[in-house]
Amino acid sequence: MSDAARTLHIVGARPQFVKVAALLRAARHPERHSIVHTGQHYDAGLSSVFFDELGIPAPHTHLGIGGGTHAEQTGAMLPALEARLRETADPVVVVYGDTNSTLAGALAAAKLHVPLVHVEAGLRSFDKRMPEEINRVVTDHVSDHLLCPTPSAVEQLAREGITRGVHWVGDVMLDIARAEAERACATPLGRFLAGDDAAGPLPDFLGPALRGGYLLATIHRAGNTDDAATLARLVGALGDLGRTVVWPLHPRTRHAMVRLGVGLPPNVLTVEPLGYLAFAALLRHADLVLTDSGGVQKEAWFAGRRCVTLRDTTEWTETLLHGWNTLVGDDVDALRAAVAAPPPASPPDFSAYGDARAAERCMGIIEGLTAP
Ligand code: UD1
Ligand code: UDP
Repeated sequence: MSDAARTLHIVGARPQFVKVAALLRAARHPERHSIVHTGQHYDAGLSSVFFDELGIPAPHTHLGIGGGTHAEQTGAMLPALEARLRETADPVVVVYGDTNSTLAGALAAAKLHVPLVHVEAGLRSFDKRMPEEINRVVTDHVSDHLLCPTPSAVEQLAREGITRGVHWVGDVMLDIARAEAERACATPLGRFLAGDDAAGPLPDFLGPALRGGYLLATIHRAGNTDDAATLARLVGALGDLGRTVVWPLHPRTRHAMVRLGVGLPPNVLTVEPLGYLAFAALLRHADLVLTDSGGVQKEAWFAGRRCVTLRDTTEWTETLLHGWNTLVGDDVDALRAAVAAPPPASPPDFSAYGDARAAERCMGIIEGLTAP
């Protein structure tokens, strides 16, 4: 992408690569866009695999800032982003979601009076112990253009007094889940899980065990990983389910398990973090999804898989309708009960999340800001 690009998309963590992929595919003027990668996620399995698989243009700037405490990470990003923003005349900045990269990008842009667009605005868990909640609230309150995935997000912003520059665009993760569904099914893993024995080389962790059915787990929230007793209780609960559980292990969780000495039950199969397509294939065929991820709650719902969420709150409240998603926190009895619950009586209704053309609407607004 060009040096003279006028819109900077600031991303740094796995879910943001998925979202920026959706937006840039909808660009009418790709030459007007540049990516700044903060470096928050740096392992290939959390970063470059998404750029490769989803065809995201290489970042124009890579800041290489990952790890550390919240203050260290966000603090290091700020001057680096400010310097980057000063290099480009009259840019627009787009930030995504609720990570420390979102917050740093938003603050750097707002302080320089650069027009700021927040994709996935208006979401709230109402739990300030979550760092993401602080990042969302601050970002929304300094943004000029707030692109909301749902009408309830628009209403929440209105309750906080934010009505200017607010748009309901739909959820960009629905766009990409739809767009990539066929490719996910066509991967060797997708074909194997659909029953094709000649699907080709499979990831080495997988085999006939999965043909008997499995649950898919992801866990990475600080609230679940940073306390030994909580993490041990959750992992123990996965063991007690007596089912095959496939668990792509986020590095934060992997480090925590080693540090806190949490062992693995034999029915729990941990694997390295997966690329988007392999993960989508596994999710589509899972009997159930257990997660504390924001994005994975939605993706399970979009794929018609029931989800049990290892959190007390969710910002994606529509997923709870008809029992498609159940919040159990770290309560193992509630977890067991939710896993055993009957399937929802009604199909998932995600009409509030748009029509899988959210990215087009986002880009219409963003490119309108830099139209010559
Ligand atoms: C971050 C986001 C979270 C998001 C998640 C997506 C914040 C506050 N948190 O959480 O909202 O849901 O990304 O996955 O922004 N690490 C590695 N390799 C990497 C990246 C991280 O080993 O490529 C390890 C490091 O020890 C690091 C730790 O994971 O200190 C935590 O990483 P960090 O990016 O700070 O937070 P996440 O837990 O990934
Ligand atoms: N994801 C993936 N491989 C994995 C786990 C998750 O590709 O092993 C994708 C998932 O499909 C979703 C995104 O990562 O698109 C969600 O990221 P994460 O759960 O890390 O962050 P959150 O959504 O909680 O902020």
